[in-house]
Amino acid sequence: MDKLIPYENAVDLLDADHKAAKAMFIEYDALCEDEAPAAAKQALANRVCQALTVHAQIEEEIFYPRVRKAIGQGLIDEALDDHTQAKQLIAEIQAMKAGSGEYDALVQQLAKLVDEHVAEEREQIFLKAAQAPLDLRGLAVELFERKQALQPPSAKPTRKPAAKATQSVKKESA
Ligand SMILES: [Fe+2]
Ligand SMILES: [Fe+2]
Repeated sequence: MDKLIPYENAVDLLDADHKAAKAMFIEYDALCEDEAPAAAKQALANRVCQALTVHAQIEEEIFYPRVRKAIGQGLIDEALDDHTQAKQLIAEIQAMKAGSGEYDALVQQLAKLVDEHVAEEREQIFLKAAQAPLDLRGLAVELFERKQALQPPSAKPTRKPAAKATQSVKKESA
């Protein structure tokens, strides 16, 4: 059951999320420099918060538990602490209105936290996972499917032809 997904393996998928988040944070800085309207900042901050929430959830539900043995509980615990801190910042950002220096500072604080967390994941967790006897390809499919299920419709990639309908109903007549 080899499903085609646009990622080599689990690490590749997760790192694509990291890069997308980084790009959004850079875009946010640009909005600050341009003194962009608060609504534009709010929309972008909401997008990055949403993406990070889904990312953290698929790591916690699928990736971390599966690589835990190979990585060691200590690193996973540190990663989970980072997630907790990130979730607190995300909750604060989501409860606020953009347009203040405080809001921008929170988004920048989140960007910094995510940067540091991603560096740890890349240099420690992903590296060890890649060296361990794990099915990172199979794991990518699970992560991909869970991610799709969690994303709000607006964040889903542009529609594909209704593959579901063709797959689900296959009658074999007697
Ligand atoms: Fe991550
Ligand atoms: Fe993480």
